[in-house]
Amino acid sequence: MKRIVVLASGSGSNAENIYHFFSKGDFAKVVAVLSNKKSAKVLERADRLGIPAFYFNKTAFCSEEGAIKLIRALSPDLVVLAGFLWKIPEFFIKSFPNQIINIHPALLPKYGGKGMYGSNVHKAVKENQEVESGITIHYVNENYDEGAIIHQSKTTLLPADDVHEIAQKVHLLEYEHYPKVIEHVLKQQNGSQ
Ligand code: GRF
Repeated sequence: MKRIVVLASGSGSNAENIYHFFSKGDFAKVVAVLSNKKSAKVLERADRLGIPAFYFNKTAFCSEEGAIKLIRALSPDLVVLAGFLWKIPEFFIKSFPNQIINIHPALLPKYGGKGMYGSNVHKAVKENQEVESGITIHYVNENYDEGAIIHQSKTTLLPADDVHEIAQKVHLLEYEHYPKVIEHVLKQQNGSQ
């Protein structure tokens, strides 16, 4: 069975959705959830779902002797970022080549880069009166939001949509597509089916 480790900083609704998607079969499973925020709702969700959950601080995350040791010990086939707000250190990326993916709540390369996270993204989309937004699922490299794109989906925006409604539309796309894209990426690894 393929092993997924999820890193998240916030609510964790994507983490939970991914967990439920793979719980239906025996192809893959979420083996752990890790968060850089002690009070993050994602850790409560993981406890409720019976997924091993861990917290780490910045020192542990940025040290080659810290969180990465735990993650390596979990033998993940894929590290999935789901609302994870810290930059991934280079040693981490090198340790998991093509095995870390992220979801960004906009159509990259627009609305990406430093500071573009959470509602900041949707606010910027609204301010620019965009007629569409969406999601981008991509591999993680050394630069924020610049890894190779695996998947994008779009949603139409109406002039009346406020920031909250834009976020809701984007979240729906995330729930629909992120688990399927994770499954696709895992199936492509080593040509396994
Ligand atoms: C999602 O919109 C994701 O795209 C972004 O952070 C949000 C996380 O939401 N990177 P949740 O914690 O999964 O509810």
